[in-house]
Amino acid sequence: MFERARKVLPGGVSYSIRYFNPYPIYVSRARGQKIWDIDGNEYTDYWMGHGAKLMGHSYPPVVEAVKKQIEFGGHFGLPHEWEVKLAEKICSMVPSIEMVRFTNSGTEANMYAVRLARAYTKKNTIIKFEGCWHGGYDALHIAVKPPYRKLPAGVLEESTKYTLTLPYNDLESVEKAVKNNEIAGIIVEPVAGAGGMIPADKEFLKGLREICNEKNIVLIFDEVITGFRLSEGGAQKIYNVTPDITILGKIVGGGEFAVGAFGGRTEIMELLDQLKYSDYFERVFQGGTFSANPLMTCAGYTLLSELEKNPQVYTYLEKLGEKFRRGVREIFQEKDIACHTTGIGSLIGIHFTPTEPRDVKTAQLEKDREKTKQLFKHLLNNQIIALTEDSLHLFLSASHTLEDVENFLKVIEDFAKQLKI
Ligand SMILES: Cc1ncc(COP(=O)(O)O)c(C=O)c1O
Repeated sequence: MFERARKVLPGGVSYSIRYFNPYPIYVSRARGQKIWDIDGNEYTDYWMGHGAKLMGHSYPPVVEAVKKQIEFGGHFGLPHEWEVKLAEKICSMVPSIEMVRFTNSGTEANMYAVRLARAYTKKNTIIKFEGCWHGGYDALHIAVKPPYRKLPAGVLEESTKYTLTLPYNDLESVEKAVKNNEIAGIIVEPVAGAGGMIPADKEFLKGLREICNEKNIVLIFDEVITGFRLSEGGAQKIYNVTPDITILGKIVGGGEFAVGAFGGRTEIMELLDQLKYSDYFERVFQGGTFSANPLMTCAGYTLLSELEKNPQVYTYLEKLGEKFRRGVREIFQEKDIACHTTGIGSLIGIHFTPTEPRDVKTAQLEKDREKTKQLFKHLLNNQIIALTEDSLHLFLSASHTLEDVENFLKVIEDFAKQLKI
């Protein structure tokens, strides 16, 4: 399949991180915490659709709702009730959101949020943090991996002229930057996901909030990963810090459909309102053919309604996650192998670093990449799939069991033993 795919899909995949050496698996079906490849191999999945599957694959309430909806139409390109219901649900669950708009990806939502912040403040520059990932939009697709100053191919210096990149969890550098620059927005992941599942310090997020209040800067939380994953109100509820704009994705589409969303205070979101801003050039544009389609919004509404009814899901995930992180850490410690785990709730990072990663930089720079690759391969050979070959970060879902975690730890134990031989 890989040979076939390589001829028509660059690299044989539709997203480069889905490739691993010597070739990726091609999936034929998925259910709960399991996936099966086209050769019939079964895997326990910690990739979980890039983290979109909070309740596991093919979550029955979502599947049932979507089956019913598709009979009535999967795409109208006109307003419908599901989008209103999903918007109401989001506004009632996420502390910072009074109004919301839907997009087809997190990348798009971030792009529009940057535009909105600029239009609202009438300023240009956006601060983003090293190691944070906000999708492929040019102005934000920088400083994702070290060396942070190097531009990825095709991204122009000009497109990033108004993006200022600063170290994560370093409030002092933000304080300095806002003194010397007119800043429109600060965008931050409350937990740096692809950067290694590194939670922000509470003081850092609180400090950003204070700076933004003082300087009329729009604070944007990219909660594409953390939204509805860390709690029913996202990371902002846990940290008790309220951003001006929140970015959502992944889970908000029920875990089964392409989605992104951005929402915030009415005063800011109103800039998108064609009734308030009838002049095309005064209004902030956002829209798309499939945005807020009935399948995605029906799936999203169904999932969020279930989460609202069952907040104990988060207690379960927290417990499972803690057992996972502690278990991995202790196994390597016992064997005197430098390995650290990071993350909160259902987010897990595994780092072969000499010291505990305090920030994205230490997680990204000091890694023993060979060991990471070896462990990825070892997991795969033991029917476990995790993201990614270069940087191990995993997602738990509510369909994972204690037995899955115990099995994972056994596999890790074998790996640690082999390393020691
Ligand atoms: C924090 C964060 N923001 C934005 C994105 C981009 O979202 P999408 O892949 O839907 O474009 C991702 C994707 O993984 C993400 O993790």
